[in-house]
Amino acid sequence: MPRITVALIFGGRSSEHEISIISAKSIAANINRERYKVLPFYITHEGHWLCDGIAQDILNLDLSALLRNSSLEATASTLREMVKEAAQKPFDFDFKSALIDVAFLTLHGTYGEDGRIQGFLDTCAVPYTGCGVLASALTMDKALTKLCVADAGLAVAPSMTLFSADYHTDPEGVRSLIEQQFDYPFFVKPANLGSSIGISKVHHGSELPSALESACSLDAKVLVEKAIQGREIEVAVLGNETPEVSLCGEIEPGSDFYDYQDKYIHNTAKLFIPARIPGEIQEEVRSAALKAYKALGCRGMSRIDFFVDENTGRIVLNEVNTIPGFTDISMYPQLMAASGIPFQELAERLLQLALETIRP
Ligand SMILES: Nc1ncnc2c1ncn2[C@@H]1O[C@H](COP(=O)(O)OP(=O)(O)O)[C@@H](O)[C@H]1O
Ligand SMILES: [Mg+2]
Repeated sequence: MPRITVALIFGGRSSEHEISIISAKSIAANINRERYKVLPFYITHEGHWLCDGIAQDILNLDLSALLRNSSLEATASTLREMVKEAAQKPFDFDFKSALIDVAFLTLHGTYGEDGRIQGFLDTCAVPYTGCGVLASALTMDKALTKLCVADAGLAVAPSMTLFSADYHTDPEGVRSLIEQQFDYPFFVKPANLGSSIGISKVHHGSELPSALESACSLDAKVLVEKAIQGREIEVAVLGNETPEVSLCGEIEPGSDFYDYQDKYIHNTAKLFIPARIPGEIQEEVRSAALKAYKALGCRGMSRIDFFVDENTGRIVLNEVNTIPGFTDISMYPQLMAASGIPFQELAERLLQLALETIRP
């Protein structure tokens, strides 16, 4: 049987560029090379597409070690330095002439997880792993995700959406509006980012201005959200029309909340699989995840994150990640493995789900 050619696309213009490289490296190591030929495509921080040798060099780096031993900025400049020459040449790659059968997307965040690359690949008639344009774009926006799943009957944390332009015009007015509606502590977060970038837990009025400055400088839309006290539960969903749902996993943040350092650098967060919640609550979370997956029109995969409120016992949907982290320590592959689908089989299943998808 001839091998299927997979374009492994990683890097990209989002703030999760470095994590995307680590995810791609795990995927590359788990694709069955007897069935698939892997062509790496690295998108630089600036948006240049690089393939072949240089993309493979980036994939070969031990980025986890680089991030542990130096800052994110230093790691980013190492990457920029490596691609300096290659990025000056025009990109003349043609997906069709390269006979790419399918793309494996390990791009996280903006431009990768939000429907833009999906739309581009649709126009090139190249199938790809994960959700299509609409579900990707919808779930990228935390405010719209909440609207959509609430409409399907799921509980979400009480929140308020504000626009950065309004904040910049009248910061005091916006702050007093927030203080009228929310008791401390609460969360302030950009609507469209990931990896906890720009997110603050605001404990006191004195912390509100810097929280708003930070979120409003990163996104045009910002959410203020009631802080839910309880456990953080995540489930992995895999499939198209008949999705399967994993066991429940639990994150115990190593700091005040699950932030960037905790997620990727220090590994201070603890993961528990299965989650330390009663069996009937696990079942409720799993069925809520399937409901959300359907309501949002997801395909391929998603990791769906919840809180179990310790005061009310309610299950509250927090967010949906359509291209979850795929590093060795990431929850999605670990949940799938614990549910009977090891990493190699997961990579295979995602590619098969992509190949069977007809995008009109
Ligand atoms: N409403 C909330 N109540 C309690 N904790 C929250 C809330 N919103 C966010 N958090 C904390 O912040 C982390 C990151 O927020 P999240 O909305 O998941 O954004 P991201 O897309 O960056 O992961 C969560 O994992 C959780 O620890
Ligand atoms: Mg999250």
